[in-house]
Amino acid sequence: MTTPGGATPLGRRLAARIARFGPMTVADYMAAALTDPEAGYYMAGDPFGRAGDFTTAPEVSQMFGELIGLWCADLWDRIGRPDPVWLVELGPGRGTLMADALRAAKAQPGFLEAVRLALVEVSPALRARQAEALGPAAPGRAPIWLDHAGDLPDGPLLLIANEFFDALPIRQFEKTAAGWRERLVGLAEDGERLAFTAGPEAPALAALIPQGPREAEPGGLAEVCPAGLGLAAWLGSRVAGQGGGALVIDYGAARPSGRPSLQAVSRHRSQDVLAAPGDADLTAHVDFGALAEAAAAAGARVQGPVIQGRFLEALGIETRAAALARDASAAQRLAIQSDLERLTSAAGMGEHFKALAVTQPDLDSLPGFA
Ligand SMILES: C[S@@+](CC[C@H](N)C(=O)[O-])C[C@H]1O[C@@H](n2cnc3c(N)ncnc32)[C@H](O)[C@@H]1O
Repeated sequence: MTTPGGATPLGRRLAARIARFGPMTVADYMAAALTDPEAGYYMAGDPFGRAGDFTTAPEVSQMFGELIGLWCADLWDRIGRPDPVWLVELGPGRGTLMADALRAAKAQPGFLEAVRLALVEVSPALRARQAEALGPAAPGRAPIWLDHAGDLPDGPLLLIANEFFDALPIRQFEKTAAGWRERLVGLAEDGERLAFTAGPEAPALAALIPQGPREAEPGGLAEVCPAGLGLAAWLGSRVAGQGGGALVIDYGAARPSGRPSLQAVSRHRSQDVLAAPGDADLTAHVDFGALAEAAAAAGARVQGPVIQGRFLEALGIETRAAALARDASAAQRLAIQSDLERLTSAAGMGEHFKALAVTQPDLDSLPGFA
């Protein structure tokens, strides 16, 4: 499929770059479309909610962030209540999840006093939203913002990543009768529109592809997320060496499907991936199996993935919904029930989304993962 490279200013810029230097990897395209300093999708504004492009779980209901806050406070207790402890969120969006988490985690005595907040966020506009959301929730405790998780100062950590890994750039590889080729973004015959193209045949590419997908029949496709694997390895070694744990929630599967999962969404609708770089969100399914292997190889204990619905139910989302409903109006009760179903049902986010825990090696049977 081909689309006008000139549909957005960033598209025109990328087309000019490809004309000069040749096709680019899907990962480079994705990184530019999402985080180009001038025109990247996340850099300008706030894409969340009904009026935006998509709605994430914390924007569906406060219950999501509250249960995650309690999960973190419980984990803090299990690791011996270190003080200080880093509470880190990767890609906090509007800051809603963290604000709800901190409010709920007050229930754990001593927890908020021990917490130092660190937010890993690429977008200046969203950093400003997060500061607004967290100001009242953390009086006297200003968060620090980081460009990369690896910049976090030493110490034990509790880390949350909801819908973060799906935004990390992936590379795509196609199996042909002659072997693996990288799928690239180039130009269509008119020299202007962006189009997928196959890179040169290169036997060495097979080394980049995990064992399972590597055995695919011709026509198969493999997606690899080097940034996600690097982050999982960093996380694994960090919690193994300095203590703590992480909760990763995202959409994807324990094993990749062998089909392309890269998708573009704008105004809650699927779009052509190459149509409007900078104007549409781009995401790819998270390969939980590959993340788990990378973290475990670095020394961490990995639990899950479990489906989001089961995870939230095990943490008590139904009890929380009932408590919220007690003082609610009839209309609010309906909304609470509908939010609960959206977060937990197979027709909503309950099965497609999964939770994975990456912790220091001595932790067993964490809530939600038993
Ligand atoms: C889909 S949003 C999820 C937001 C939030 N976690 C939620 O659930 O509502 C992705 C978030 O990650 C940030 N982000 C995306 N790519 C990033 C990167 N490479 N480095 C740091 N932040 C990034 C975005 O700006 C945004 O805050």
